[in-house]
Amino acid sequence: MTAYILLAREVTHGSSAGNCPTATRLGAGHGSMTGSVASEIPDLRGRVFIVTGGSSGIGYATVQHLVRRGGRVYMAARNEEKARTAIDHLEPEPGVEEVCFLKLDLSDPREARKAALEFISKERRLDVLSRAVRTRRLTKDTGKLDALYSHISPFVFTMSLLPLLEETAKHSQSDVRVVNVSSDGIMFLKRGIRFRNLDDFNDEHNGEFAPDLARYSNILFTMALQKRLDTRNVPILALALNPGLVCTDGVLNDVRSQPPIISHIFTMVIRALWAAPSRGALTSIFAATAPVVRDQPQLYGGAYLQPPGKLGRPPNADARSLELAEELWDTTERLLRDIGVEIEGGIAGDPVLRA
Ligand SMILES: NC(=O)c1ccc[n+]([C@@H]2O[C@H](COP(=O)([O-])OP(=O)(O)OC[C@H]3O[C@@H](n4cnc5c(N)ncnc54)[C@H](OP(=O)(O)O)[C@@H]3O)[C@@H](O)[C@H]2O)c1
Repeated sequence: MTAYILLAREVTHGSSAGNCPTATRLGAGHGSMTGSVASEIPDLRGRVFIVTGGSSGIGYATVQHLVRRGGRVYMAARNEEKARTAIDHLEPEPGVEEVCFLKLDLSDPREARKAALEFISKERRLDVLSRAVRTRRLTKDTGKLDALYSHISPFVFTMSLLPLLEETAKHSQSDVRVVNVSSDGIMFLKRGIRFRNLDDFNDEHNGEFAPDLARYSNILFTMALQKRLDTRNVPILALALNPGLVCTDGVLNDVRSQPPIISHIFTMVIRALWAAPSRGALTSIFAATAPVVRDQPQLYGGAYLQPPGKLGRPPNADARSLELAEELWDTTERLLRDIGVEIEGGIAGDPVLRA
């Protein structure tokens, strides 16, 4: 229930409105739902992208924007049938290569590693990794490990891809980025969160804020990654962002699990007031492609963006703590070692990447 009070509070701060499409309807007719960010997306031909969470919501709309500008995109998703249906509804530019499916199930870090290796076996470059997965709300029955894996598996996936991202960054004219969709919802998290050990990862925070905890770790991960890249003079930019309030299938599904009257009211409000996915994806698109980001790496490296591409700062002081980011990173590595997941050439056990 608290979540819906928060939703109501978020609506009052909400972004522009309306006509929320579902993922499968998104393909047609939304080219006009753009702004200056969309019209300024550079030509992306020859560049390779992975979008996690790409089969619906913000991730799907991100894929759509990228293929319209000629990007070669891998839709990383766990449900192949759903992803292939979503791909069928995309509208690529004429001549654009097909959108590829990459099987990625983030519920297990070993699967995340496997997906990264599968990608590496197919492609010789990766220009942008855009991460837009929605994690489930925790329940006492299902899922203490959801919060853990919502951070750990994306960590493994990203770090397993890092060698290829770094190779790509060596090419002349390259512009390599890692984009993490987070949320201003972290403002509702209590202060004093720690990531010292497994118990801290599993802290449910009364069960209400676990998804926000995952978004929170996305911001800390972004900061820690950028620090490591900068230390080694690797010209890759990591950015985190708040997409704004976006009417996606994920949001509507969350609302549907509530009692009918509440569900009905919130569905109407969200459909009427929240941004459609194609608009909601614009901050991700800005982070992934805007030339100004590459032109000013000192400003944008490790930054947190607000819609549609403004520099902001995470609305929770803990999420701005580099010390906490280091704690998260160190504990993540330790937990991975404990469960026997190695990331060759990546972070785990690799002193080169340690700051
Ligand atoms: N919508 C908003 O208003 C809003 C606001 C702030 C932040 N955000 C953030 O934006 C991101 C995207 O949210 P959204 O609203 O677009 O969500 P969405 O419509 O539910 O899409 C989420 C995607 O994540 C995928 N996913 C979930 N669990 C997965 C797993 N274990 N392995 C692989 N993929 C998995 C889903 O795949 P399946 O289809 O297979 O489930 C789906 O493609 C999230 O990080 C969310 O926190 C959203």
